[in-house]
Amino acid sequence: MSNFVIPDKLKLAQTPTPIQLLPRLSKLGSRHSDVNIFVKRDDLTHGPAAGNKVRKLEFILHEAKSKGMKVVFTCGGLQSNHARATAVLCRELGLECVLFLRGDKPEPGTALEANLLIDRLVGARVELVTTEQYDNISKTFVAHAEFYRKRDGKMPLLVPEGGSNDVGGMGYVAAFEEITKQAGAGNGLPARFSSIVVADGSGGTHAGLLLGRNLYGWEDDCRIVGFNISRNAQALIDRVKWVMIGTIQRYRLPISFMADDIHVVDGYVGPGYAKATPELYDFIAEVAREDGIILDPVYAGKALHGLVSELGASPERAAFFGKNVLFIHTGGLPSLFAHAADYTRAITRSGK
Ligand SMILES: Cc1ncc(COP(=O)(O)O)c(C=O)c1O
Repeated sequence: MSNFVIPDKLKLAQTPTPIQLLPRLSKLGSRHSDVNIFVKRDDLTHGPAAGNKVRKLEFILHEAKSKGMKVVFTCGGLQSNHARATAVLCRELGLECVLFLRGDKPEPGTALEANLLIDRLVGARVELVTTEQYDNISKTFVAHAEFYRKRDGKMPLLVPEGGSNDVGGMGYVAAFEEITKQAGAGNGLPARFSSIVVADGSGGTHAGLLLGRNLYGWEDDCRIVGFNISRNAQALIDRVKWVMIGTIQRYRLPISFMADDIHVVDGYVGPGYAKATPELYDFIAEVAREDGIILDPVYAGKALHGLVSELGASPERAAFFGKNVLFIHTGGLPSLFAHAADYTRAITRSGK
């Protein structure tokens, strides 16, 4: 165990989150060699804010509180889990939250749903932005920040997409410390996992895990593998690298890394970001029925489906992940309710 001390943060997440073996899914993934698929239940990090973002926000919102900031800006898609987690936690902490969400203005009278409903319920201010404004989000932030700077005498805290920056990168370093302790304690877990698998959106979770792997001495035993769910592998590798470098510098982490260690698997985006095929919905419905794990179709569902597909693709692909695979369930439960018709069709198709 490293003697690195995790920097100051808020305690917002319910941790440690459990790690459990998924026996039926492991069987499904064992076409070429026996594999144990474990899941770390980071979908249980909180009630309404649950998911991977809570771990990043423990560090990010610590910065806001310790600097006496009053307002937090962040951004994402209309159904962003990160935006929802930020809105809920800001409310818990007495901070004002402004969300810049990429999307069209809904027809008047349209009911709010899923993540956006929670954003508004906890009183976040929502600014809808065009794709062009979103692509220049720093400019959009600065244009709006002036009002708050004048009002409060302080700038809002500007948090990028997914909370993936040099501060948020620390969230999954702390998670890795937790994984190391859990694996070391036995309880039916292997001493080391051969791979840790995650859905990659803005790359901060992947970056933190890879930093944690090197910090806690797992570099010879464990691969960190991300599944791309929106961009392309190279764009994600660049993002992961950027967050890693920033986090190393900011917290003076006593480690380095090799660019070759950033593994991102392409080929599972399907029809596009937040769009999924009937096959994916059928897989998600099967996992829920068989192992009691509920997955979203945007992130965790796509990544776990990608993992099982890769394990079944060839003996070489299966060997890449090794025998004991830990899948991080990063949450995203509310987005189910934005895809209710597709879930319903999958249940109907199953005949169960
Ligand atoms: C449910 C869920 N899983 C995974 C991710 C990806 O995490 P990251 O943005 O750190 O790559 C996100 C956010 O983008 C998410 O909301």
